[in-house]
Amino acid sequence: MEKILVLDFGGQYNQLIARRVRENNVYAEVKPYTMSAGEISDRGYKGIIFTGGPNSVYGESALDYDKEIFGLGLPILGICYGAQLMAHALGGRVETAPTSEYGRTEVDIKGDSRILNDVSRHTIAWMSHTDYIAEAPEGFSVTASTPVCPVAAMEDVERGFYATQFHPEVMHTQEGMKVLRAFVKDVCRCKGDWKMDSFVTSSVKAIKEQVGDGKVLCALSGGVDSSVAAVLLSKAVGKQLTCVFVDHGLLRKNEGEEVAQVFGPEGHYDLNFIKVDAQQRFYDKLAGVTEPEKKRKIIGEEFIRVFEEEAKKIGAVDYLVQGTIYPDVIESGLGDSAVIKSHHNVGGLPDHVDFREIIEPLRMLFKDEVRKAGLELGIPEKLVFRQPFPGPGLGIRIIGEVTEEKVKIVQEADAIYREELETYDDGRLAKTIGQYFAGLTNMRSVGVMGDFRTYDYAIALRAVETSDFMTAQSAKLPWDLLEKVTNRIVNEVDHVNRVLYDCTGKPPGTIEFE
Ligand code: XMP
Repeated sequence: MEKILVLDFGGQYNQLIARRVRENNVYAEVKPYTMSAGEISDRGYKGIIFTGGPNSVYGESALDYDKEIFGLGLPILGICYGAQLMAHALGGRVETAPTSEYGRTEVDIKGDSRILNDVSRHTIAWMSHTDYIAEAPEGFSVTASTPVCPVAAMEDVERGFYATQFHPEVMHTQEGMKVLRAFVKDVCRCKGDWKMDSFVTSSVKAIKEQVGDGKVLCALSGGVDSSVAAVLLSKAVGKQLTCVFVDHGLLRKNEGEEVAQVFGPEGHYDLNFIKVDAQQRFYDKLAGVTEPEKKRKIIGEEFIRVFEEEAKKIGAVDYLVQGTIYPDVIESGLGDSAVIKSHHNVGGLPDHVDFREIIEPLRMLFKDEVRKAGLELGIPEKLVFRQPFPGPGLGIRIIGEVTEEKVKIVQEADAIYREELETYDDGRLAKTIGQYFAGLTNMRSVGVMGDFRTYDYAIALRAVETSDFMTAQSAKLPWDLLEKVTNRIVNEVDHVNRVLYDCTGKPPGTIEFE
């Protein structure tokens, strides 16, 4: 079988590189950088990819790998740190860059290249580095650069050595797939006749092997990610899985009941389901708190406490399941990007739950792939295509202090808004909008209803078009829709006398109000 070796130097994206290669119907496996040239040669690889990594090629942190690998006659692609290793080993110059490049970077492709020929001359790539290749080794031609990086890509076609300072495997590198495809197909000459098992089939098999007859615990939020993770686990290990669903009183209208219907005893999954009604506990903890980050922390911590208490009742478990998906991994762990908002459902692990290991079956998937897996698993469409809903829930859609009364107001207004939007133009409009919801502003204003003066709250409606949730623009909703929603909300929801529409994009706004 044709296969590519992904030699792991400790980067974050190593598994993703292997997956991208497999998407070209070529098998790829990730092995540690300590693998010797002899072993590599014995295993019959068609090519090697050096991954990125956190180290520097200089100094004590430099990794000691077998340089004989360069003498095997196999094509090699070095990515990021892997590119620097290649330059350093073959006589080029690697230095600390005058400014680090992090994130979206404009790259200029120069001249002829075996791996970049299909890429636009001016393209966008994802960078994350502090060192850079200042000078390519002899025999190499420089095939791309950025304003900061004189050698953003280089190649020595004769010897079969290729390198990119950027990460072709991540989605943010717009034409990255073309680079990997060219390396695997054109340079390594793989035919691509390997067939990938479906994600569900291979995961169920792998989970069965990992878990054996162990006990598994999952915190179910009712969101797409944790639902897909839970159903995948239930398919693999059935009643060995217990799902705990905490109703923190900040869910949307009827959401708690809906989750219980799908996953509870009347639902059609083979698992143990526990619903905890913890609403009052959260309201008590949130009383008087107005600062958004503090609210998030309180909700996150209380959630973990409730979960721990339930876990204690169950006793020792072997595995804890988390619905972490790939963008969570990047957003919470990459580089030094400032924390804009702390997302409590990522990395917030209970301290006192007795478990051996974490299972994150969706760690390598993007949202659309999670949805695909969800449909394959037979999860209801309504749940699979559910709007993203933040872990702290309505807690961050109520500006200022959260009270039970305000939760009711925003639940009712939001339900009306979603119902009207989702039925408008036979549902076609809703499909074009990334996220929509109602929030409760902390503003009260004077109005008149009947013959009476009112002094009540303003609801703010939000609808944004976005593909990655990192940037967004306010959707231009039809006026007749806004009018109808406004009328219904002021007539049907007590204590609301005004409805506003938020026209702000992201940036400068964020999608949520807090
Ligand atoms: P923002 O408001 O940061 O939202 O522009 C971007 C996306 O992230 C979601 N979001 C959160 N999700 N915990 C979450 O689990 C949070 O604290 C949180 N804050 C925002 C938001 O709904 C949107 O999809």
